[in-house]
Amino acid sequence: MVTPAGRGRLAGPEQGRLEIVPDGAVAIAGGRVVAVGPTGTVQGSVGLGRTTRILDARGKVVTPGLVDAHTHVVYAGDRLDDFEQRARGATYAEILAAGGGIHRTVAATRAASADELALQASSRLDRMLLAGTTTAESKSGYGLDTDTELRQLEVMGRKALGRRHPLELIPTFLGAHAIPPGQDGDAFVDYLIADMLPAVARQGIAKFCDVFCERGVFTVEQSERLLLAAREHGLAPKVHADELADTGGAALAARLGAASADHLHCANPAGLAAMAASGTVATLLPGTGLFLGMREHAAARDMIEMGAPVALGTDCNPGSCPSHSMALMMSLAVTQLRLSPAEALVAATANAAAACGAGERLGRIAPGFQADLVVWDAADFRAIAYHLGANLVRNVIKRGVVVHETEEFRPVYSGA
Ligand code: NIG
Ligand code: FE
Repeated sequence: MVTPAGRGRLAGPEQGRLEIVPDGAVAIAGGRVVAVGPTGTVQGSVGLGRTTRILDARGKVVTPGLVDAHTHVVYAGDRLDDFEQRARGATYAEILAAGGGIHRTVAATRAASADELALQASSRLDRMLLAGTTTAESKSGYGLDTDTELRQLEVMGRKALGRRHPLELIPTFLGAHAIPPGQDGDAFVDYLIADMLPAVARQGIAKFCDVFCERGVFTVEQSERLLLAAREHGLAPKVHADELADTGGAALAARLGAASADHLHCANPAGLAAMAASGTVATLLPGTGLFLGMREHAAARDMIEMGAPVALGTDCNPGSCPSHSMALMMSLAVTQLRLSPAEALVAATANAAAACGAGERLGRIAPGFQADLVVWDAADFRAIAYHLGANLVRNVIKRGVVVHETEEFRPVYSGA
């Protein structure tokens, strides 16, 4: 049994602090963890009822369910054309500036009904759940108009889903994801503040407000104006910061006391130091740099040395990283960002939960925490990040219910 130790977000020397109980056991009741520790101790402390189910995980690793701290998973269509164009040499920013990229997904998403959006999103959520993710932050931002943004958020609130998906979503309003072609940034921010924010607040689903603070997209001033207004409406700030260029996004996030600043590929050291001082979680998305062919990675080791808590996310989105796998992000964190396997596990659980404002409830196996667990087909937790691109998930447990069970693999041979 492997879980982040301590409480809240873990930073600096604590980033990799795990509690590992060989021969561990977890007792669950009412969707929550009631006891955890050595099997003998747990058995002695809880009574088994006639309906108690015992899941034997002997020889396997049990961790908290993975938390994906940054996704854009509710959208319509795909971006296979961008993908191919980039292989021919076009950059992400060029495609966006030419009216493709995010704008292409905006067009598809505006044309999709809530049911269609829910259907497409739920198949992505299935893949994420199968890969061990039990909670994901989920951003709107493919509407850029009030109706479509509200529809995306509504789908995340599950009101439009035919069945409730076990993967829990934490909704973020990202109306400031791009400037609609032909519009002026300042005027669009005015519209966001006057029109969209009040409607989003009235709808009551979004918990955070995020902005794509980036060269050629929203400036630091525009981002700050929006996030301050969002806070008035009860939406806590998050920032897409310094992803493609350093515009001072990290410092902005720190100044606003944002829950997280995300990407940070190009963030400057002063901004990172300010984040460490404010306790803002640095959510790193190593799949995005890889998928966009960026040569430099975020300065994760510097962040940890400075004392900023590091979290991980897939960024799951059609343009810059269509991945569903947090285990793959953990592999990239270890191999590219030079996190230790323990630091990567904390980044994918306790710190990701903190980035989602749910650190008191998710991301640890501890009494009172929601019983979200993954049983891995591995005897050592380091194997999760080690097997690049593999899926070692054996069982997924959400709120105490086994929602996924992998069949024993039996190859089928045809012929003689
Ligand atoms: O995090 N940076 C902006 N948003 C996403 C990409 C979204 C898209 O390309 O559709 C990101 O990389
Ligand atoms: Fe993103």
